Amino acid sequence: KKPKKVSGPASQIEYIEFGQYQIDIWYAAPYPEEYSRNKELFICEFCLKYMESDIVAWRHKTKCHHKHPPGDEIYRDGKIMIFEVDGRKNPLYCQNLCLLAKLFLGSKTLYYDVEPFLFYVMTEYDEYGCHFVGYFSKEKRPSSLNNVSCILILPIHQRKGYGHLLIDFSYLLTRVERKTGSPEKPLSDMGLVSYRNYWRLILCYYLKDYRSGDELPSIRSMSDELGLTPDDVISALDALGALLRDPTTGTYAFKLKTDYYKEVIKLHESKGYATLNPKGLIWTPYI
Ligand code: ACO
Ligand code: ZN
Repeated sequence: KKPKKVSGPASQIEYIEFGQYQIDIWYAAPYPEEYSRNKELFICEFCLKYMESDIVAWRHKTKCHHKHPPGDEIYRDGKIMIFEVDGRKNPLYCQNLCLLAKLFLGSKTLYYDVEPFLFYVMTEYDEYGCHFVGYFSKEKRPSSLNNVSCILILPIHQRKGYGHLLIDFSYLLTRVERKTGSPEKPLSDMGLVSYRNYWRLILCYYLKDYRSGDELPSIRSMSDELGLTPDDVISALDALGALLRDPTTGTYAFKLKTDYYKEVIKLHESKGYATLNPKGLIWTPYI
């Protein structure tokens, strides 16, 4: 179910022209007034420049030499490529990205103060270039406990497993940093279902080969190995019915249901979604 569009400050925009797609927007975004007067807004799918008319957009298309996001390519596997874009080095691109994201995010996001963030832009590659699929932003501040600030998959690419892939990627970076992390709160409804689904699945993979009677790793070591915070590990275990609370002592015991985990995995894999290949990452953490 799509969230309702809220009426923003006098914005008339109803849809965007983006690459070969026309995409209905969900929320108003604070584009400058002169761009908010028409029903449609034109956005270059490569540099994310926004334009008020098809003539301007057409002219831009003939001169725009960008075929992929700015920044560094840090991941490639099959036709998926991910770029790391620094808000300080490419402020205009990142501001345009935040405005685009706001069209599909109900909560407030940042727009102009992009400097403290890195942006991970996922694209699909073909002979015409790297087409924007989605992104997440992440604070540079090393002490931040959030490994994702804002995440979006464009509606035209949703429900194809890309959200899962991008979330998986965010945890891969977190593991390379030898940290644990969690997405910034509050999550949207769709963010919450997607994350819960991801955490549950990742725990199913983790636990599927244990046998009843085996000694299980501690929550802490599961957290370290997966990059999830201990709280998120616990909530995922709980969602799987894997935690039994002893009412007298208040302590928890594990209850394994490996057949069930294998079924969850089988169902997921039967969808044939693209999966993350950690070997496709070439990256050193930001310092
Ligand atoms: N309805 C029901 N279940 C859903 C929905 C939905 N609309 N969206 C995702 N799910 C669940 C499903 O179980 C799905 O698996 P399935 O399709 O195999 O059944 C699973 O989550 C993952 O789906 P993906 O296809 O991997 O996710 P998607 O590519 O659609 O991206 C995302 C998820 C990023 C949350 C996307 O819906 C989105 O961009 N939404 C708008 C912006 C937003 O709300 N972002 C999160 C804000 S919170 C934050 O930024 C920290
Ligand atoms: Zn352009």
